[in-house]
Amino acid sequence: MSNHTLDIPRIRKDFPILEQEFGGNPLVYLDNAATTQRPEPVLETIIDFYHTANANVHRGIYALSEEATQRYETARHKAAEFIHTPDPRSIIFTKGTTDSINLVAYAWGRYHLGPGDEILITEMEHHSNIVPWQLVARDTGAALRYIPLKDDGTLDLSDPGRYFTPKTKLVCVIHQSNVFGTVNPVETIINYARQVGALVLLDGAQSVPHVDVNVQKLDCDFLAFSGHKMLGPTGVGVLYGKPELLEAMEPYQGGGEMISTVTMKSSTWNTIPYKFEAGTPNIAQAIGLGAAMDYINAIGKDNLHRYEQTLLTYALEKLGNVDGLVIHGSAPDRGPVVSFSVDRVHPHDLAQFLDQDGIAIRAGHHCAQPIMHYLKVSATTRASFYVYNTTEEIDFLCESIEKARKFF
Ligand SMILES: Cc1ncc(COP(=O)(O)O)c(C=O)c1O
Repeated sequence: MSNHTLDIPRIRKDFPILEQEFGGNPLVYLDNAATTQRPEPVLETIIDFYHTANANVHRGIYALSEEATQRYETARHKAAEFIHTPDPRSIIFTKGTTDSINLVAYAWGRYHLGPGDEILITEMEHHSNIVPWQLVARDTGAALRYIPLKDDGTLDLSDPGRYFTPKTKLVCVIHQSNVFGTVNPVETIINYARQVGALVLLDGAQSVPHVDVNVQKLDCDFLAFSGHKMLGPTGVGVLYGKPELLEAMEPYQGGGEMISTVTMKSSTWNTIPYKFEAGTPNIAQAIGLGAAMDYINAIGKDNLHRYEQTLLTYALEKLGNVDGLVIHGSAPDRGPVVSFSVDRVHPHDLAQFLDQDGIAIRAGHHCAQPIMHYLKVSATTRASFYVYNTTEEIDFLCESIEKARKFF
């Protein structure tokens, strides 16, 4: 390992969970696309908030509440910087990617779409970027169309005029596939969308944790991502939206915080982003997400990406040499996710077998059943990596798969 500058053993020490043993072996955690682990600085930040600053935000006139508000709003500024938007009002704290996409589906989709309009998504989407649009299509009469998949795990963009038409009002696309790892050419897709006047929502659940996503350069209208896939807590994520769009949108949920005035007859709305943060927000989680972003920034996004690419290249080569193992997808531009099938071994049996060696790996449809349908399988096995994984763990994974093959 030479083309990265990270001290991985030191980084691993920040993740106490990695010291645990399962089946007499140290935990080999390879399910990072589902959720990552949290480093000490994130855990400490959350505990410190509860120890020293816990109060509700935006409402107390006392010092403790002001401190809580300040920490919460600082997290919003960190999130804005992380994705390169100059305007923190464009950052809405949500529960996660799913919640962020549903917010757009309800607060934009239901008000701006109707019969004759089209929502364009892809066959590569996670269910959270399919089902909300199926519901919107059902409720508004708009049509839902799909950019097709190709055998190499990339999108078929050979005939854009077929999919991007004057009817297309919204394009929702996964930035990096959680099954194939494919990084989609979102610049090109955004460009096609612009040519027909459509808005673009990017599902950044698998990209924001791994690469520098710059919403200004991309010029996307919405970006959704989750804290727990990038070293942060569960229960928090972000919806980025262009301020002018957010301002023009109706609220998603009603309640405290999101209002300006309430009478018994009607209400008026707070300014953005608060208009979309009804009720007591996930204060500690948002602050923890800010700490996770600090941690990633300290590693350096370039270093992180370079190291993960080293792991990916190693994994593709090693796994590719395992007899009877087929890797799904071969996109040239991909993130640290490898889905595969092993001859005569069901993914669930394989995952159970590997678990006995302390290897945590995902088996299933990965919330992407249209992809499984395309591949004509019910499930695959998936290894996904983050900064604390090592080539030794990949070696161990391959040895364990070989053992499983012999056993079955
Ligand atoms: C590409 C993609 N989109 C959306 C989601 C949903 O994220 P969450 O469950 O955090 O809302 C996931 C989670 O696996 C994902 O991988």
